Amino acid sequence: MSGIPHDHYEPKSGFEKWLHARLPIASLAYDTLMIPTPKNLNWMWIWGIILAFCLALQIVTGIVLVMHYTPHVDLAFASVEHIMRDVNGGHMLRYLHANGASLFFVAVYMHIFRGLYYGSYKTPREVVWIIGMLIYLAMMATAFMGYVLPWGQMSFWGATVITGLFGAIPGVGPTIQEWLLGGPAVDNATLNRFFSLHYLLPFVIAALVALHIWAFHNVGNGNPTGVEVRRTSKEVAEKDTVPFWPFYVVKDLFALGVVLIVFFAIVGFMPNYLGHPDNYLEANPLVTPAHIVPEWYFLPFYAILRAFTGDVWVVQLVQFVTFGIVDAKFFGVLAMFGAIAVLALAPWLDTSSVRSGRFRPMFKWWFWLLAIDFMVLMWVGAMPAEGIYTWISLIAATYWFAYFLIVLPLLGVIEKPLPAPATIEEDFNAHYGPAAKATAAE
Ligand code: HEM
Repeated sequence: MSGIPHDHYEPKSGFEKWLHARLPIASLAYDTLMIPTPKNLNWMWIWGIILAFCLALQIVTGIVLVMHYTPHVDLAFASVEHIMRDVNGGHMLRYLHANGASLFFVAVYMHIFRGLYYGSYKTPREVVWIIGMLIYLAMMATAFMGYVLPWGQMSFWGATVITGLFGAIPGVGPTIQEWLLGGPAVDNATLNRFFSLHYLLPFVIAALVALHIWAFHNVGNGNPTGVEVRRTSKEVAEKDTVPFWPFYVVKDLFALGVVLIVFFAIVGFMPNYLGHPDNYLEANPLVTPAHIVPEWYFLPFYAILRAFTGDVWVVQLVQFVTFGIVDAKFFGVLAMFGAIAVLALAPWLDTSSVRSGRFRPMFKWWFWLLAIDFMVLMWVGAMPAEGIYTWISLIAATYWFAYFLIVLPLLGVIEKPLPAPATIEEDFNAHYGPAAKATAAE
């Protein structure tokens, strides 16, 4: 499977040989589990496993929730209350699923920002990155549709606002919006199709995850130095790597355990902390909530959507040159999707020959500014779009684009990188070898 030379599965017993000749499944499992993995991976390489756990958790809890849920506008809200009050362990199931979605997004943002810092997206891992972006888009669609299912006030109004974005597309927008909703407004047809797709998409994500894992097993894991595993021979590769089992299985399980302690504390003691109280009110098309706020994980992109109002000169310029086709609303929609598009294009926008941020003295500063920018966007996305908040969101949204479209391409040209270790073995020994241990003991 991997391009790194290592021992492969050898069928031993008669049955193993028989099966191997017909379906080499044991060989696939062996090669996956024993894959040579760089021995210097740090704690930022745990999020992939946490993500895999989240996907499994969401599918398992979701399937049981469906057994008690009714996708009909007259019954959905009551069926969720029924789950919370009458079904054995129902409130636990629901809270695991709702907070599981949040853990999923915490993990995916950590995973993405890890990739941005260590340049994991760079050649030869562009396809790993692009499949990751497809997973992220599918996760957002799944979470958005899932939030509609309890049929609370935020479910209804969130769906109305977000599907309304498609209505802003010039010409075909209203037709697309009606097609998405299954009618002129959010109603039973919308709830039904969202329910169907919410059930389907996690399995699409599972298939994409299989591709994602296949892709990075094929090129090998990256690592914090950005230096590749030497592939000249099995003996040399072994100096840079350890087999995934047992080393990283144990490390990842430990990390999962720590994350789950925090997760269960939230599920058990503050399960509604991340939710919106208005979603405990049944959907009412006649009463619009004072502030329609999406779930926290959408807030950065929601802030970008709202940042570009008709007062901004860029918006006015674009409106002028497109003869009004791109108005402020459509500009906001383009900016929101554009913010994700520039993230997806990072492998081609980053011109530096050095992969890891560890050896890029200037890049580090801009990267951390981006991380802060993301948090600021998340915060401002929950604030009313008025006064000082409009300015903050405009500056933060502009930096998001500037980072990908100006800073990344430019830094590769002007930055002088620091010397990186020649091999992973050298980096590992510098941190954990006998000399490093002796220095630590002094
Ligand atoms: C359900 C969602 C996902 C799952 C289960 C998943 C799983 C994994 C796993 C197990 C790894 C190897 C270990 C690790 O790096 O932590 C990995 C690596 C990677 N993932 Fe993901 N991932 C997901 C989403 C994403 C997303 C959204 C992106 C970015 C757009 C992404 C980009 C990458 C990259 C670039 C690597 C290679 C890192 C390296 O080896 O240096 N992944 N993923």
